[in-house]
Amino acid sequence: MQIIEDIIGLFAERGDSLYGGELISQRDHALQAAMLAENENATPVLIVATLLHDIGHLVHDLPEDSSNRGVDDKHESLGEAYLESAFGIAVAAPVRLHVAAKRYLCAVEDGYLERLSEASQISLGLQGGPFTMEEINDFESLSHWMDAVRLRRWDDLAKVEGMVTPSVDHFKGYMETVLEMQQI
Ligand SMILES: [Fe+2]
Repeated sequence: MQIIEDIIGLFAERGDSLYGGELISQRDHALQAAMLAENENATPVLIVATLLHDIGHLVHDLPEDSSNRGVDDKHESLGEAYLESAFGIAVAAPVRLHVAAKRYLCAVEDGYLERLSEASQISLGLQGGPFTMEEINDFESLSHWMDAVRLRRWDDLAKVEGMVTPSVDHFKGYMETVLEMQQI
């Protein structure tokens, strides 16, 4: 269970950094998103993916406002690489796809792009903009794409200053459950 201790350590040591261009911390953003997933009775796998979807931001050393400086930190790929061997593809894939899910929703849902926060609209440009028709079809053929879309909606809502959430420790049991599932 070393990775759980490592993750708790990352949130403790680096979680105060601001969530790219927003007014809340990485830790608060992760906890708000995971709480929304839990409130909607998501599976432990999807709750863990949601809690850890931006862990890639905490494992690199780029500045916290890198997207405002025109740099895409590719945090979704860093997160996938960090998580996959321990938590499995069902956690890692929605993490990898949560940026693509934003591009997907911008293309298929009227008004979605306009509802994104300013920071999220800025990073959208760096990430390639809304999907084309062909990219939409490709995305819908991927495994775990629907989980990525659900995760994305919680991600978008998890930017509320001052919202009260459970602590990281509250979600430890879900991480343990998913690790144990991987070891069966
Ligand atoms: Fe996020």
